[in-house]
Amino acid sequence: MLPKGLRRKKSSACFLLAVVLILGTAGCGGKNGEEEATPSAEPGITAPATEPTEPASQPTQPEEPTKAAEPTEIPKEVRTNFYVSSLDEELPSLSEAWKDYFSVGVALTANELNNEFKTDLIVQQFNSMTCGNEMKPDFLLDRAKTLSEGTETCPVLSFRSCDGMLQFCMDNGIKMRGHTLVWHSQTPDWFFMEGYSNHQDAVFVSREVMLERMENYIRQVMEYVNTTYPGVVYAWDVVNEAIAPGDGEENGMRVDDSLWYQVIGPDFVEKAFEYARKYADPEQKLFYNDFNTYETSKRIAIVNLVNKIREQGNIDGIGMQSHIGMSSPTMDDYETAICKFAETGVEIHITELDIGLDSDSEENLLKEGKRYKRLFFLLKNLMDSGKANITNVTFWGLTDDGSWLNKDGKRYPLLFNQLLETKPAFWGVLLDDGIPLY
Ligand code: XIL
Repeated sequence: MLPKGLRRKKSSACFLLAVVLILGTAGCGGKNGEEEATPSAEPGITAPATEPTEPASQPTQPEEPTKAAEPTEIPKEVRTNFYVSSLDEELPSLSEAWKDYFSVGVALTANELNNEFKTDLIVQQFNSMTCGNEMKPDFLLDRAKTLSEGTETCPVLSFRSCDGMLQFCMDNGIKMRGHTLVWHSQTPDWFFMEGYSNHQDAVFVSREVMLERMENYIRQVMEYVNTTYPGVVYAWDVVNEAIAPGDGEENGMRVDDSLWYQVIGPDFVEKAFEYARKYADPEQKLFYNDFNTYETSKRIAIVNLVNKIREQGNIDGIGMQSHIGMSSPTMDDYETAICKFAETGVEIHITELDIGLDSDSEENLLKEGKRYKRLFFLLKNLMDSGKANITNVTFWGLTDDGSWLNKDGKRYPLLFNQLLETKPAFWGVLLDDGIPLY
């Protein structure tokens, strides 16, 4: 709960939602094609109309005499203060603002849920959550128990790391993206070795044993999560980052650092989706997730892979991680990737969005706000035009100081600063008029 005496204000929330609604009708090649959009420098991004359109017909006679002329338009107040403390004011909610388009999520680490100011903000802003690390194989695989209680084909798992996060979601009506089942990274080498050995001279198990381990791993994660926290997880990242065209393999598969590939072979992705479909709840969506998905060779390899798994009926979506820079990728390339992925017929999730800004000068923070606005404007246009079915957008972190990008020096990639104040980026995501689009 917030400290006593801090009154939340609703007026700014109403105003901003109104702004979003106004933009919602603005020139993005609207569904009915009624408006002539101003052509833009990049496809998919068109300038919003500045004037509201006239209603189709006006009543000729008012039913009763009007008193004084009342303003019919919402006054356009342009925001200039972008740094609003979530402790002092009730902010407009991102998930509420975008509810007709997609759910809005945040990746968190378990310790962030110990901070009541953060949990207040999370519950108010987001309706989807991802565990930043706590549901990855290196957190769930329990080597000691596997050695004492497991079998050569069935490891033992422990869910201590993610229990609290799943419970938090269940208590607060937040849905979770299950991240991630099969990944070359954050999966211990001993999982691939005979006897789960972690010695230097350990040898790989056979393909058959590894397939059984994979199936038992996926089965146990899904069974535990779905029986202990029914209805919480709505999507699973079944396979993460299996494509790396630079490795030179024909289908663009990651080879060099993927023990999954090395032990099972290229069909490990298909097998993972087959097992995931077998044990998932019917309403859970199965995703392939990757980074730099807008690079042409990677994009093509992902489309081919997804088409194959789709024919087998085992995939529902593509996750575009979207750890992007301030100028790369171009919005054009980003749009092309979304459209190509959408053409496969699956849903799109933007699963790990952040912008690697390396300076917090006022000018740069405003530029970041503009980039976020352009991105969300693009997503909106792609949805409005029916070109893509984008069903979730998740930010990879809540506050800049908690971002994973800070390992390599200071970065300012997210929507809130360490004081839990909004940044221009937050208002950009809301398509606020105070943030320029160009
Ligand atoms: C990152 C976490 O945020 C870090 O804390 C961890 O040290 C490394 O992994 N792609 C993914 C995420 O799919 O799981 C990664 O998360 C970021 C890149």
